[in-house]
Amino acid sequence: MVREGLTAAPKRLPPWLFYDAEGSRLFEAITALPEYYLTRTERAILADHGRSMMAQAAGGARLRIAELGAGSAEKTRLLLRAAMERQGAVKYEPIDVSASALDAARRRIERDLPGVHVTPLVMDYAHGNGRGLEFAAAADGERMLVLYIGSSIGNFEPKEAARLMRRLRAGLKPGDSLLLGVDLVKDGALLLAAYDDAAGVTEAFNKNLLARLNRELGSDFDVEAFAHRAVWNEAEGRIEMHLESRWAQRVRVTALDFETEFAEGETIHTENSYKFRPGQAEAMLADAGFRPTGAWSDARGWFCVCLGQVE
Ligand code: AVI
Repeated sequence: MVREGLTAAPKRLPPWLFYDAEGSRLFEAITALPEYYLTRTERAILADHGRSMMAQAAGGARLRIAELGAGSAEKTRLLLRAAMERQGAVKYEPIDVSASALDAARRRIERDLPGVHVTPLVMDYAHGNGRGLEFAAAADGERMLVLYIGSSIGNFEPKEAARLMRRLRAGLKPGDSLLLGVDLVKDGALLLAAYDDAAGVTEAFNKNLLARLNRELGSDFDVEAFAHRAVWNEAEGRIEMHLESRWAQRVRVTALDFETEFAEGETIHTENSYKFRPGQAEAMLADAGFRPTGAWSDARGWFCVCLGQVE
């Protein structure tokens, strides 16, 4: 994957490579930045409307809650609390590729919300083999609610996002639902600031990718020989992140036994973050076989949390 990406034209690296321990720490720091409105906007939507979301998803039944990605435990807590107010105890199944992230999430939730019974599941849900995602079987009278919040769906290419939605749908039964958080298209300057903050945390997050390759694959990237670039690609509806070579240079990746050359100004494309137009998330849910049954936004219309139900 790394050799293929760094020898392709244009060069690219997959965004999941961001998240080693240092990258995860930097991402947490991004979520608190003044320019990165996503996390606090979604949190406010969940705080204001969490009860309605749980009521809509539950119908008259008890909810059993699964979550893709365990990183957003702070926002999840708002929903788990709302579910507990309805039904007392809640079964919660966080799903993540990282056992340590799951363990941290379990400890946090069990400490703060004693009524939540946590069963972590280690699974690489994003790179499945095309089969449906398998959730623990819901008991009679229970409905499954899968959370996929935090705008993580926006880091997939549209075709991959559609495939993931279909795999999710295949793992669910009639009455079950999916709660999806998406970032919305807005003024380009606001979007750019969120991905190119004044304190340089997003720059450090982007460049950590090269530092990670140096640490783990023995490459000799001079991290400061690359500049962080964020681009708003309006036609594609996405923020792109790139690393731009400041001058012509050659880099060796020892563990993979190859070298690659950079021209001055040549870039490595490291991430796309898709932004949705109004109605687009609901259309994506519908295409995957979910009936859109609710959509909650903030007053500025910057972020949307949508519910889709299996019929
Ligand atoms: C994880 N994901 C939703 C973030 C985003 O906004 O696309 C990753 C990120 N990249 C740069 N800043 C944050």
